[in-house]
Amino acid sequence: MTARFPVARPRRLRRTPAMRRMVAQTRLAPADLILPMFVKEGIAEPQPVASMPGVVQHTPDSLRKAAHEAVDAGVGGLVLFGVPAVKDGTGTAADDPDGIVQRALRDLSSDLGEATVLMADLCLDEYTDHGHCGILTPSGEVDNDATLERYASIAVAQAAAGVQVVAPSGMMDGQVGAIRTALDEAGYRDVAIMAYSAKYASAYYGPFRDAAECAPQFGDRSAYQQDPANADESLREVMLDLDEGADLVMVKPAGPYLDIVRRVRDAVDVPVAAYQVSGEYAMVEAAAAQGWVDRERVIMESLTGIRRAGADLVLTYWATEVARRLGS
Ligand code: PBG
Repeated sequence: MTARFPVARPRRLRRTPAMRRMVAQTRLAPADLILPMFVKEGIAEPQPVASMPGVVQHTPDSLRKAAHEAVDAGVGGLVLFGVPAVKDGTGTAADDPDGIVQRALRDLSSDLGEATVLMADLCLDEYTDHGHCGILTPSGEVDNDATLERYASIAVAQAAAGVQVVAPSGMMDGQVGAIRTALDEAGYRDVAIMAYSAKYASAYYGPFRDAAECAPQFGDRSAYQQDPANADESLREVMLDLDEGADLVMVKPAGPYLDIVRRVRDAVDVPVAAYQVSGEYAMVEAAAAQGWVDRERVIMESLTGIRRAGADLVLTYWATEVARRLGS
């Protein structure tokens, strides 16, 4: 008797949309998506970000409106980035009780209460005139331990303004521990920490630096963010952050680092977030504007890929749009 081929027919489970839907292993839900938002001090109208079509620097009012829309669409949470009117060497505006993010946090927490999860990026690069993520030594290096004191103070200022989750993104050694201690001592035991644990020195952050007006004025961030060539180091960073008290951990960027997302997911028992960064967004928008890719399908595929790699949560500038599409 001749061999019968094919022996197996996996195509049976792919035949109809209903069959594919039933057997789909990865699902996206609005609550998995976190929307990063920029709020700028001293502007009368929202300002479009040229390198991120569809993204704006908000005024306090437009931020409130966009936050409501995101929450109505069902997104899981919001993460705020502030662009202050005045920057200086130590990033004074970052922990000023009247600083732009603190004001925005007060607005959003009074508007939304517990209807969403209100988060804030915790870093200095948006606030320093030199654009680095910390305080500089006289020779121009980022001073790790002096920077930790600034981060601790920013955490307390954000907590006092109503943040529920702080997201330290500066890649200073010991930052999670310093922030946890400061929050606890100030009585903010319930404020959680989402640590940007495995954060790479990535060219994919290019458009963000327009949005947050924080390009380093000299040098780059390679002396504190991770080398894209390294993988094991991410596990070490994640474990240190968990030991220091991180509640959630993050891998960033997402798309080019899916192997890291998977390894972290397999190694920890806390929620893992991945940040689909500005460059990942900009590349899709640019190609779609040329008609070179199907925009909606590429967006959904990119997010499905990040979830399939193991991310529980995805920070994405498409959060509201995708949440609406999933909800309808
Ligand atoms: C630092 C920070 C950056 C991003 C988020 N937090 C920039 C950087 O590290 O240079 C990048 C996000 C993006 O590219 O979308 N505060």
